[in-house]
Amino acid sequence: MQKSLRDQKNMSLKKLLDKDKIPKHIAIIMDGNGRWAKSKGMPRVFGHKEGVKTVKEITEVTAKLGVKYLTLYAFSTENWKRPAYEVNALMSLLVNTIDKEMETLMKNNIKLEAIGNIEELPSKSYKSLLKGIEKTKDNDRMTLVLALNYSGRWDVLNAAKSIMKDNFQGDIDEKIFKSYLSTAAYPDPELLIRTSGEIRLSNFLLWESAYSELYFTEINWPSFKEESLYEAIYEYQNRERRFGKISEQLKK
Ligand code: FPP
Repeated sequence: MQKSLRDQKNMSLKKLLDKDKIPKHIAIIMDGNGRWAKSKGMPRVFGHKEGVKTVKEITEVTAKLGVKYLTLYAFSTENWKRPAYEVNALMSLLVNTIDKEMETLMKNNIKLEAIGNIEELPSKSYKSLLKGIEKTKDNDRMTLVLALNYSGRWDVLNAAKSIMKDNFQGDIDEKIFKSYLSTAAYPDPELLIRTSGEIRLSNFLLWESAYSELYFTEINWPSFKEESLYEAIYEYQNRERRFGKISEQLKK
């Protein structure tokens, strides 16, 4: 991969992507906003504002590539532990962004959805989110899923509780269990990206990422641009996905 990348230095990686192997679902842990801002001598919230620009760029680029689902980890159940002013800033950013970008989502035929315990978001954020979800519900080019007040363990626990509440009879298999998760309507992500050099899942899509290709980059989220995404997809396309089998079995 490195050789080819170096050889094609002056060419956008987009041209090297196999159009038939674009992941259907990409999930991203958008990390490093705070560090990006700090490196510029700016407050953390400035990093989140710049992060929103990346959200816009990557949403448009993924839709153009033909990705069907883009899931972004925007606020975890653990993020409430941050200083109140930062939590408030993130919640306001969410409202402002949804309100401001509604037209772009409509124009690009993108459906907005959310996973997580969204009812517990501040009421302004919750209402604006519901409004965005309602307004875009018939769009079908790509679904942008915001993980908000989300954690993988929360979702798995919730699923288990719902199964018990339903007084489910019979054998529970993976398909049935998945149908109780907040991600039931989405295929598992083939590619999961985390920016900023941290190498962990931080409670994101724990069930769904069982066979995802994990891609970690040192780039902080505000600096993660179109080309960075092509690079991630290029690497994904050049990995061998064996799902427990051996190489030779895949070639048959
Ligand atoms: C991680 O950076 C980022 C977040 C916890 C929030 C991401 C939110 C946005 C990009 C803005 C709002 C999103 C939408 C969809 C409107 P960090 O703060 O953990 O950075 P650090 O690790 O450098 O401190």
